[in-house]
Amino acid sequence: MAPHSRPTSFWLRLLKQRRERMYDDKLDLSRPVTWASEEERQAAIAFFNAAFRAEESGLRQAHEIAGDVESWDPELAETLRLYGDEEGWHRELLTEFLGWLGGDVRPMGPTTTTFYKLYARAKRPETIVLVNLMFETIGSTTYRLALRTAKPHPTIRQMLTILTRDESFHVPLNVHFLRRMMERRRSSAVDGARLRAVYHALSLALAASAAASRRRAKAFDHIPFRTLARAYVEQLGRLFVHADDLGFVPSRALLAAFGLRRRDLDGHDDIISVEAAERAADRKNVVVEAL
Ligand SMILES: [Fe+2]
Ligand SMILES: [Fe+2]
Repeated sequence: MAPHSRPTSFWLRLLKQRRERMYDDKLDLSRPVTWASEEERQAAIAFFNAAFRAEESGLRQAHEIAGDVESWDPELAETLRLYGDEEGWHRELLTEFLGWLGGDVRPMGPTTTTFYKLYARAKRPETIVLVNLMFETIGSTTYRLALRTAKPHPTIRQMLTILTRDESFHVPLNVHFLRRMMERRRSSAVDGARLRAVYHALSLALAASAAASRRRAKAFDHIPFRTLARAYVEQLGRLFVHADDLGFVPSRALLAAFGLRRRDLDGHDDIISVEAAERAADRKNVVVEAL
């Protein structure tokens, strides 16, 4: 087992513990919002629609992979199912929340459609888990930034806080999934080069996707393109600094495009450590900080 990793039983125990409290969180929808403009409200609906699609995709992929994994690791399969259930719960909260915004679940825009179409073509579980992990990372990064810059309404903050808190637990959890999938693949001699290519291509594509999301959601979250894209590059780079056994190293060129160097990623903000996951596991103890 890699140095900072934990067995599946550890993650399963945390997820079971989380499940006990999951439905205690209720959104307080009693206070209406006063929007600065209709444009701001539409941008909020677009922002949370993107979140909804990410939840839906996480839920579906986790449950699908669980079916495949069942035959060789039933404990890992159960862990994947409980994780998918958390995303399903987020999807329910977001449905309720979108209704409160006076919006609903909308068809995806062209950029999002392209992403999910490509993603749907991924067949191997380790590719699916890697892509999902990268989506979780940019999701939690966006929510944390938005906590500081979006409208300071208590219900909006509550929604963003729940998402930030849970996604920051999902990131190290997905690193565990990826590690288990890669260990299994290694024994069947599949090359890591292909996975690394996915990592690099997707890091670039996600940084670029910040431009599309700015057109749709910026009037709500007020995050400038460069701030968002740089945060994506930084967090996607940081992701594997503490899991270097997996062999993903961020591109120097991409980092440099945002004024970052590899050594900038070494800092103490360790988003995937087991310790961070343990802190995030008990929802009541989590202090969510804006980025
Ligand atoms: Fe989620
Ligand atoms: Fe998640």
